[in-house]
Amino acid sequence: MNKTSIKNTLNLLNLYKESGVDELISSRPKNRTVRKKDHVSKKMQKSDEMNSAKVSEEINLEGINTLEELKNKMSTFQGCQLYKSATNMVFSDGNPKSKIMLIGEAPGHDEDLQAKPFVGRSGKLLDKMLEAIDLNREKVYIANIIPWRPPANRRPTEDEINSCLPFILKHIEIIKPSALMLLGSTATFAILRNKEGISKIRGKWVDLKINQMTIPTMPTFHPAFLLRQPGQKKHVWTDLQSLRDKIKQK
Ligand code: URA
Repeated sequence: MNKTSIKNTLNLLNLYKESGVDELISSRPKNRTVRKKDHVSKKMQKSDEMNSAKVSEEINLEGINTLEELKNKMSTFQGCQLYKSATNMVFSDGNPKSKIMLIGEAPGHDEDLQAKPFVGRSGKLLDKMLEAIDLNREKVYIANIIPWRPPANRRPTEDEINSCLPFILKHIEIIKPSALMLLGSTATFAILRNKEGISKIRGKWVDLKINQMTIPTMPTFHPAFLLRQPGQKKHVWTDLQSLRDKIKQK
């Protein structure tokens, strides 16, 4: 390799790093814009989705009343294909007795390896956000909509979200938080089925009704989004203050 190509390679690697690429999924590039492959992968996705939808209808959470029972049930669930490519199931972290529950999207690379939510870059930012209102991991409870890492950190599909939804709803029901914070658009859409984008509804409290319980719930931006758009942190700061006030009233 000559000097110029080493420099170009380093520039490219830096660009990847800054864009958040933290893993190689293949040793050769793949042209994913070719129509024929698109069609095949869509077809494959469709059959996975049909599977997920079919099995999710069969989730029976009757008689599940504790976190341990829920975790056991989830660890044998095969209705969402993501478990096949994941290293670990990521169930939760934090204090199950906390009044505050935070829900994210799905595990990333570090979470998948450590079987703990929010331990990577966005997790570090989440810790800082919590610290800003005098909270930490021992004072909140954290889970995700999807407990398995989607390959290459892609967004979970709507079918994957729907197939895992009964679990997170049961999770909320067991924790019975006094306030629920939804981190990012995937968690918000999964729980609230909102039609408007996250920018419109973040910072607003809505009543979530689950099995005769009413839980004050607020969507806010995801820490990963804040890493890309630090200018938006001021909004999350307002949301966190509102969360702190809500808990004081309880
Ligand atoms: N992003 C999430 O939404 N959840 C995690 O656990 C990690 C990153």
